[in-house]
Amino acid sequence: MNSTILILGACGQIGTELTLTLRAKYGNNAVIATDIREPLMKELKNGPFELLDASDAIAMRSICEKYNVHTMYHLVAMLSATGEKFPMKAWDLNMQSLLHALELAKEGLLSKIFWPSSIAVFGPTTPKRETPQQTIMEPSTVYGISKLAGERWCEYYASKYGVDVRSIRYPGLISWKSQPGGGTTDYAVEIYYKALEEGRYTSFLSEHRALPMMYMDDAIRATIELTEAPAKQVKIRSSYNLAGISFDPITIAKSIAKYVDGFTMDCQADFREEIAASWPESIDDRSAQEDWNWSPTFDLDSMTQAMLTNLKVKLRK
Ligand code: SER
Repeated sequence: MNSTILILGACGQIGTELTLTLRAKYGNNAVIATDIREPLMKELKNGPFELLDASDAIAMRSICEKYNVHTMYHLVAMLSATGEKFPMKAWDLNMQSLLHALELAKEGLLSKIFWPSSIAVFGPTTPKRETPQQTIMEPSTVYGISKLAGERWCEYYASKYGVDVRSIRYPGLISWKSQPGGGTTDYAVEIYYKALEEGRYTSFLSEHRALPMMYMDDAIRATIELTEAPAKQVKIRSSYNLAGISFDPITIAKSIAKYVDGFTMDCQADFREEIAASWPESIDDRSAQEDWNWSPTFDLDSMTQAMLTNLKVKLRK
């Protein structure tokens, strides 16, 4: 592939790793990284980097024109916990930035868009275990409402205007290179830092609150595999369910305790407990398996080992 890739939200948890992975694959100049802020990680400047507010349609257009962008990975969003504090800001940012991108694709300025949805599209009335691809969706967070509306817009632009848009309903994503911000699943990243730094952690979710999760390496691979799959294989244009690992705080704590001597966890549930309680515990992703051969590689213990090994090196620096 020798066409230009644009990443929106390149300094975020997913954007950082996706930018580095795609640059390793296609060369630094093939991947234009953008974000509303300057990167903290200097490697993100090893290729083109532009400041971009994704809610600014004119600025987004001018970057697409300047670099003759082929594929956009749209990774800008305000997540669930922060979204509950700033509902209108979350709605405006999450919706406007997506609609600007879909309009550019409709005009032919972009050939392809990847845009992530989330397990947050589900709600308290959704079947909780092995949640099907098509089911009741009555999200109770602003973030979830914006992602569900976004899914409908993606399908609308695909069917009405032939826009090639692809999407995954990400579970909670666990990574060591960059931290998440403002999500309900963030505890499953924080716990690894605290295990190494303090040997103990206080979870903001209750001990048996299970959620679908995934190690970042699997999520990045899924993202690229779906985006690069032949168009005819991508039968779902709203968003694909994607399953990795499902666990609750007590189970991840036990996994960490196998590798960090004396590690302990207690739980003090806060407002995020209610958000988590409205989401599925596990996901049925047969459509992704069948349509574009999805299969995760990390289980809980292999993820724990990878997180601890990499974080030990990172925290020593
Ligand atoms: N990780 C997200 C959040 O917790 C869910 O997609 O908000």
